[in-house]
Amino acid sequence: MSTHPVRQSFNRAASVYEASARLQQQVADQLIQDMHAALPSNFTGHILDAGCGTGYCLHQLQRTYPDATLLGVDFAEAMLEQYSSASDALAINGDLEHLPLANASIDLYMSSLAWQWCHVGHALDEAMRVLKPGAHLWLTTLVDGTFHEMASAFRSAELSPAAHLLAMPQETTVRDAFQQSGMPLITARCQPVTTWHADFNTLRHSIRGVGANRLPSAQQAPLDRAARSRLIEAYEALRSPRGLPLTYNVLTIHAQHN
Ligand SMILES: C[S@@+](CC[C@H](N)C(=O)[O-])C[C@H]1O[C@@H](n2cnc3c(N)ncnc32)[C@H](O)[C@@H]1O
Repeated sequence: MSTHPVRQSFNRAASVYEASARLQQQVADQLIQDMHAALPSNFTGHILDAGCGTGYCLHQLQRTYPDATLLGVDFAEAMLEQYSSASDALAINGDLEHLPLANASIDLYMSSLAWQWCHVGHALDEAMRVLKPGAHLWLTTLVDGTFHEMASAFRSAELSPAAHLLAMPQETTVRDAFQQSGMPLITARCQPVTTWHADFNTLRHSIRGVGANRLPSAQQAPLDRAARSRLIEAYEALRSPRGLPLTYNVLTIHAQHN
């Protein structure tokens, strides 16, 4: 697991992650708010935060569900090291596609912005394996349309977006995976969230700061100076009075295990 490029990227980003993760925190806050509307504060079961990173959601969950037993799993150990817990939540180094948890041991599975790095079918199979029958899953993940401005700038600069950007699944692929599983959807909502940046470096930094700058496999070809200049020029053509746009297409899912 140590050579996994996504894992290495998150390990490198760990120390600056929280400062760069405003969008991630906004998405996580909304997810926990949605959960809370359906699940009262006196919930006492086992809650798993899958892809817990530095533990932002674990802290929010601790406040929202003080009587629940909290578990976090993440495969980037440097992200877990940033999680300084005043609580008794257990943060475990492990892979979402091979969870180090027993069958039917979890009462609620939540995950915020981690599944886009995973094979949806594998992550879903594992979620279903560890969830108790009748238990709920709450999830946010990124789908196609994410970073569409960057993809368009790459194309305008005659560069291949596929060589530099993570391929996100189609929204329908994720929905279909749930509908064909033993965990049909209760709700699914797709919402683009656009962040604005003063310049290209700040924008790239916002992606790098959350470890989201690597393809899951193969070596990423570095851009030479001329290609980078063309890319910046193409991105500048997208500037509006608010700055340079970067859109995340966020899919929020609520499902229940049969
Ligand atoms: C963008 S961060 C989100 C962290 C946290 N959920 C939050 O909202 O702040 C994505 C996290 O998913 C983790 N991750 C990605 N793929 C994973 C996998 N296959 N198994 C475990 N963790 C994974 C990364 O290490 C990273 O910490």
